[in-house]
Amino acid sequence: MKNINLYATVYDHLLEPSLKSLKRRVADFAKKYHSSAVLDLCSGTGMQCRMLGKKRIQTLGLDMDERMVSYARQKAPDIPFICADAGISPLKSGSISTIIISFALHDKPQALRTAIMLETKRLLSENGKIIIVDFENAWSKKSRWGYRLVYLIERMAGNEHFWNGRRFLKAGGLTGFLKEHNLTVIERYDSEKSCTAIVVAEWKNDE
Ligand SMILES: C[S@@+](CC[C@H](N)C(=O)[O-])C[C@H]1O[C@@H](n2cnc3c(N)ncnc32)[C@H](O)[C@@H]1O
Repeated sequence: MKNINLYATVYDHLLEPSLKSLKRRVADFAKKYHSSAVLDLCSGTGMQCRMLGKKRIQTLGLDMDERMVSYARQKAPDIPFICADAGISPLKSGSISTIIISFALHDKPQALRTAIMLETKRLLSENGKIIIVDFENAWSKKSRWGYRLVYLIERMAGNEHFWNGRRFLKAGGLTGFLKEHNLTVIERYDSEKSCTAIVVAEWKNDE
């Protein structure tokens, strides 16, 4: 009997279409910064990896949810996806030139976010880049509409996810997070309609 992966299918059909343009921009950034080996941490349905694959960028997806991993593998059999915890991955230190973390910080408890950052630091090669996509507090009239929409969608994501997201925004959203982790921003794109930012960042050598 064919096993229909309801959770991943719903995510792919309901949410992914609205995230497509942001993910396209992430792939453009990865190309621009000459990313040779990209790891998408918390890769979900694998859509970001598929977009990178189309640009012939070598990509690996990692997610802890087996349903997401098997869905991603089904959709893109040529791209490797592993099922692992982003806070303690089985990957080699210094082996990745670019790490993408897309909508995968706000939903986590603070301790896991910190573990993911430590793991990211361990995995990145010298001069490695990190591309983060996540929510910001509203900064303009249009972004306040985006914020309201995000609030409604997040409310449907379950209590733990929702309240972690509220705490993430209270601590300053993506901008606050970058500051907390001493990340230097190289380039950013702000999306008012989703109250979100895409940031290309790095750790300076002495940090
Ligand atoms: C909101 S989704 C974002 C998915 C994707 N990055 C995107 O942009 O659509 C968060 C993802 O984090 C994954 N996740 C949650 N905890 C994790 C962990 N400890 N390690 C790896 N993945 C995790 C979930 O399974 C889910 O696919």
